[in-house]
Amino acid sequence: MDLGLSGRTAFVAAASHGLGRGVALGLAAEGCDVGLCARDGAALDAVAGELRAAGVRAVPTVADVTDAASVHDAIQRTVEETSRLDVLVVNSGGPPPGRFEEVGDDGWRKAYELTLLSAVHLVREALPALRRSDAASVLFLASTSVKQPLDNLLLSNSLRAAVNGLAKSLAKELAPAVRVNSILTGRIRTARTEALARHNHPGADVKDVLAGGAADIPMQRFGSVEEFARVAVFLSSPAASYVTGVALPVDGGLIQAAG
Ligand SMILES: NC(=O)c1ccc[n+]([C@@H]2O[C@H](COP(=O)([O-])OP(=O)(O)OC[C@H]3O[C@@H](n4cnc5c(N)ncnc54)[C@H](OP(=O)(O)O)[C@@H]3O)[C@@H](O)[C@H]2O)c1
Repeated sequence: MDLGLSGRTAFVAAASHGLGRGVALGLAAEGCDVGLCARDGAALDAVAGELRAAGVRAVPTVADVTDAASVHDAIQRTVEETSRLDVLVVNSGGPPPGRFEEVGDDGWRKAYELTLLSAVHLVREALPALRRSDAASVLFLASTSVKQPLDNLLLSNSLRAAVNGLAKSLAKELAPAVRVNSILTGRIRTARTEALARHNHPGADVKDVLAGGAADIPMQRFGSVEEFARVAVFLSSPAASYVTGVALPVDGGLIQAAG
């Protein structure tokens, strides 16, 4: 199936590692030019090299998504260098773990800036260029915690619900010009899932913790970044032209199992 992404441009936020990097590579494999940002310039340049090796233009910009000015620069550079923007992938790092009595106001403010305000910055900066596309879409990389809170991830559980509200509101406000969808990410193996396994089970072997974490997933395993990226690329693409306002779990059946 031709996804219709060839010759188009996407901007993928927080794309130096993990899910963002995987989605950027998936878009490039379809012939889509990619602007990308993250804070670590060396890691970002390495991903840009992988994108160029796939035969597309890459526009990497060091930017912290909590900083509106740097998000502005990153998206403007992408639009200037590729002359268009068709797809925005909203992503950021995850807020730190913690339970209610461990988190103070400062932690709440930082998590709000990282998870919700960053999404506002990205959509605001991308929207004028997206409106000029004949097949514009925004994809939020969210979490199954929107449906089922995750243990020890109070900040993420709370703020993802706000991002979900933003995504659903935008799907209606921006239609028919811009499609807006979300992926409710389950357990996908990345540096973050490994860091959380170490945090939640100090001293235990990460492999054992992840095997335990797979037990209640109907598919009996964590997902791979490539499996995740295939769904993200499809939802972002013109091939999904009649899909908007959707929050699609990519979770090996976990939400179904939870109930
Ligand atoms: N993996 C999962 O199973 C899973 C499940 C549910 C939800 N999620 C959520 O999905 C998102 C991505 O997860 P992941 O597993 O890909 O994490 P990851 O492997 O830790 O990668 C996070 C990426 O975000 C970038 N980043 C972090 N803070 C940033 C900031 N302030 N500005 C710009 N870039 C920033 C990091 O690059 P720099 O450090 O270079 O900035 C890195 O490229 C997170 O919000 C996570 O909570 C993941």
